Amino acid sequence: MSRILSLVTLIVFFGILNLPFSENVDRNNFKTCEQSAFCRRQRKYKPEVSPYEVDLNSMITVQVGHTQFVLLNTHKSHVKFRLDVYTLEHNSLRVKINEVNPIRKRYEVEHSLVTEPKLVNVNLTRLDENLIEGTFGKSAKFILNAKPFRLDLFTNGIFVMSMNSKNMFNFEHYRTKPGTNEGTDNEENEEGMWEETFKSHKDPKPYGPSSIGVDINFLNFENVYGIPEHADAFSLRSTHDTDPYRLFNVDVFEYDIQNPMALYGSVPYMLAHNEHATVGFFWLNAAEGWIDVNNDKLTVQGFFSTVANFFSTKPGVDKNEVPEVTTHWMFESGIFDGFFFMGPTPRDIFKQYTSITGSVPLPPLWSIAYHQCRWNYNDEDDVRSVLNGFEKYFIPLDVIWLDIEHTNGKRYLTWDTGKFPNPEKMQDDVAHYGRKMVTISDPHIKKDDGYHVYAVAKSKGYFVKTKEGADYEGSCWPGASMWLDYFNPDVFKWYSELYSLTNYKGSTKNLFIWNDMNEPSVFNGPEITFPKDIVHHGGWEDRDVHNLYGMLQHMSTFQGLYNRSNGHIRPFVLTRSFFAGSQRTAAVWTGDNKAEWSYLKIATPMLLSLSVTGFGFIGADVGGFFSNPDAKLLVRWYQTAAYQPFYREHAHIDTARREPWLFGNENTRLIRKAIEQRYQYLPYWYTLFYRQEKQGIPPMLPLWANFPKDKKTFKIEDSFMVGNGLLIYPITDADINQVAVYFPGENTIWYDVRTYIKFEGATTSLVPVDMQSIPVYQLGGVIIPQRFRRRRASMLAIHDPITLVVALDRNREARGELYLDDGHTYDYRQKRQLIYRRFTFRNNVLYSKTLDSTSKFETDAWIERIIILGYPKNPTKITINSGDKQAVPLHRYHDESQTLTIRRPGPSVASDWTLTIA
Ligand code: NOJ
Repeated sequence: MSRILSLVTLIVFFGILNLPFSENVDRNNFKTCEQSAFCRRQRKYKPEVSPYEVDLNSMITVQVGHTQFVLLNTHKSHVKFRLDVYTLEHNSLRVKINEVNPIRKRYEVEHSLVTEPKLVNVNLTRLDENLIEGTFGKSAKFILNAKPFRLDLFTNGIFVMSMNSKNMFNFEHYRTKPGTNEGTDNEENEEGMWEETFKSHKDPKPYGPSSIGVDINFLNFENVYGIPEHADAFSLRSTHDTDPYRLFNVDVFEYDIQNPMALYGSVPYMLAHNEHATVGFFWLNAAEGWIDVNNDKLTVQGFFSTVANFFSTKPGVDKNEVPEVTTHWMFESGIFDGFFFMGPTPRDIFKQYTSITGSVPLPPLWSIAYHQCRWNYNDEDDVRSVLNGFEKYFIPLDVIWLDIEHTNGKRYLTWDTGKFPNPEKMQDDVAHYGRKMVTISDPHIKKDDGYHVYAVAKSKGYFVKTKEGADYEGSCWPGASMWLDYFNPDVFKWYSELYSLTNYKGSTKNLFIWNDMNEPSVFNGPEITFPKDIVHHGGWEDRDVHNLYGMLQHMSTFQGLYNRSNGHIRPFVLTRSFFAGSQRTAAVWTGDNKAEWSYLKIATPMLLSLSVTGFGFIGADVGGFFSNPDAKLLVRWYQTAAYQPFYREHAHIDTARREPWLFGNENTRLIRKAIEQRYQYLPYWYTLFYRQEKQGIPPMLPLWANFPKDKKTFKIEDSFMVGNGLLIYPITDADINQVAVYFPGENTIWYDVRTYIKFEGATTSLVPVDMQSIPVYQLGGVIIPQRFRRRRASMLAIHDPITLVVALDRNREARGELYLDDGHTYDYRQKRQLIYRRFTFRNNVLYSKTLDSTSKFETDAWIERIIILGYPKNPTKITINSGDKQAVPLHRYHDESQTLTIRRPGPSVASDWTLTIA
C-alpha cells in the first residue's frame, strides 16, 4: 500500500513539476504577489501622509558615527521603534529600524557582511524643529525629516535618494493573535495575517504578520539595476503592469525569461546611475522580498514643497520636471537594515558595496579557463574518452565535471563504484596536464541509515526541524531526504570536514565542488522549497532566513576545501543558490537555461545584474541546459561565453551529446577557435580577477561603468565590456550578417581585435559579421597582455611568454596591467609571490614598472611580442633597455592597418624595462 502511495505521490509532484515532460515553467507552482498575503497588504499601503514620526528630542549619540532616535507610528502609539543611523567609511550610510521591545526577537542577518562596517564621524546640525542634517564622508549628506519620517540623501550636493518620501514605510510589529487569551491588541486582522494557503500547502504563521515595506526613490535617475536573480532586462523595467520583482530562492523548472519571477538566488541590492552619479541601496534582509519599480516624473514644485532648497542649480536638470525611479521594497520579516552607498562614481560604488559584503577572491587560474560538464559523464571510460577528444581535436580544457549520477544512489560524497571503481586514479590521470575535476554535492541527504552522512546527522540532531521538533522530511533526487541545518555552527563545521581527503573517500587534492539544488529545492514542498514554518538553529523560522540557506552550504563547502590543504590551495566551489556575500566563497551560474537564442541573449543582462551587485565569477551554461542547440547556436554560445567570466559547457541528461567535436569539422574548428580566444586572453582575465579582489571591480561590466557620462550606454544590454579594454558584442540571432555596434565614449578609438580596423567613439557603426567570431574591440588607450602559444591547459602556460597588445588612443598613449602568480595557492597573499606590473606607453616609449615592489615571483616568462595598434609610421629604430642590457629587436610595420609588431623584444616579465621607438 505504502509503495502505491509513494508512487502516487511521485506522479502527483512530478505532475505538478511537469518533470521532465513540459516545455515551460509552470507558473502555478510559484506565488504571485496577490497570493502572498504580506505582499498584497504592503502593495496596497499608500497613505496620504506617513503616520511615522521621529522624536528628535530622543536623539542620542551612541558612539562616533552612530546616532539613535525613537520612531513612532502615530496611529499605534503604543508601538515604539528604534531608528539607528550609522555613518560608515567609504561614503556610506546605514539605517536600522527595529521594534524597541518586540514580543518576539526579529531576525538580523548574519554571515552576509564581511565584517562589522567601520564608523566615521558625522557632523549633525539641527536645521529647524523638524530637520536634522548630517554631513559625512566625501561630501555626502543626509537630511532627516522628523514629521513625517523621511530621509533624503545627497552626494556632492546633488539630491540622489530618499526613503519614505512616498509614505510607504510600514512596519508590521509583532503582536498577539486577536481572539486568543493573551490577545490584548486591538489590531486589524486581515485575511492571511495568521494563516495562508497556497495550493495544498498551509502556512500556519504562528507569529502573525511581521512584514516591512518602504519606498526608496532615486531622484534624477531613469535607470536602476541589480536585485538579481531574474531572467530579465539589465535596466530594470517598470512593474506597473506586472508583479514586483521577487527575491525568494527557488528552483524554477524551465524558467521563462523577461519576467520578474524569483530564481535561485537573491541579492537585495539596487544601483542607480546617471551621468552625474552612481548610487546604491542595499537592504540586508534574507526573508522573502518583493520590489516594485516605477519610472516617474517629479515636478520640481512638488519636490520643493517637501524639502528645503537643495536642488536649484544642479547641472543637467530640467527646472520643471525631474525623472525619478520610485521603488517599493517589501520583506516578510526581519528588520529594516538599509545601506545607502553614495558613490559618486561606478568605481566608488563597487568599492563601497564590496567593502560591506566582500569581494570575489582571486580564483585559481584553471577555474577561469574552460570547463566541460554534462549530466552525466557516465563512467571512467566516458571521462577518459572525453579527455581523449580534447587531445585529438587540439582543444584546450581545464576541468571536467561529474553530475549526480556519479554517486552511489545520490548519496553525495560517495561514488557509484560500478561506474567509478578508481576515482583517485581517474583524477590523477585528469591532473596529468594540470587539469582538475569537479563533483556535485547537493544539500539534501538521502534518508538511509546505511549512509554515513545521514546516520551521523540523524544521531546528532543536525537536520532542519518541523515546528513540532521532528526532523523535516521532503523529497529530492534520492527520494525521501532531509536537509542539514547549516545555521547550527556545529553542523557548519562538521559538514565542512566531510570534504577532507580522509572523510571524502576517493577524492584527491585535484577535486573541487559544485553545490546545486541549494535554494533548497524540495520537490514536494510549497513552491518547490522549504515550508516557511520549519525551524532552523536558534529557533528561526525559514521565513526569516530562507535566502541564506544556499549560501551557508557553499560557505561550509569552501571552508572544507580550504582546510583540506591547511589554507594553502585556493578552493573552487560553484553554487546555484546565493545571497549577498556569496561572492566571497563561490562562483555562480544562472541555472537551467535553454538551448534557444533568446536564452543566449538574456545571459548578458542576467550576468551584468550579478556583476554590478558584487558577483564577478559568473556564467551561463554554454549551449543551454535543456534541449539540443543546433551547431550555429552552439558556436555562437561558445564565442560569447569565451568573454564571460565562468566558461562551462553543460547539458541535461536527456539531451544529445554535444562535446565540441560532434558537429562536423568546420564547427569543431570554430569552437576550438572560440576556446582558444579565452586562453589567449587569460593573462588579462587573471589580472582583472586580481583587481576585483583588491578593488571590487567585476571583470564583466556594463558599458556605463567605463563610460559613466555616455547616456547612450545606460540601457545597453546587448553588449558588455571585459575590464576597461574589451568591448564584446555577442551575436544572438541565427541569420545575421551585420550588426549595429555602439562604440561608447567621446573621442575614443576602438580597434577590431581580428582586423585592427578602427572605429570612432560615440558613434554607431554597422559592422559585418561572419561565423569566424563575434565582434570584439580593444579600446585605444589600453594595453592588454595575452598568450599566443597554444597549450592543453592553463596551468601549463604559467611561465609561457606574453604578448602585449598596445592600442593607442588619440594622444598616442596607452596603459595596462599584468598580474601573475603560481595560479593556485595563497602564496600570493602569504608570501607575496606575485608579479604585478603597469605598462605605460607615452611619447613613443613603452615602460614596464612594478606596481608592487615588495613582491616577487620566480618565472622565466618573457615578452615575446609587442603589437602597437594605431602607430602612424614605420619607425627607423627600436631599442629596448632592461637593467644594463640594451637590445635592438626586429620589427614589422603594416601601413594599411597602422600596426607595428615588435618581435622577440625579450625582457623578462618580472623586470623593469623601457622600449623606445625612434
Ligand atoms: C539542476 C542543475 O541546475 C543542473 O545543472 C544539474 O545538471 C541537475 N540539477 C542535476 O544535478
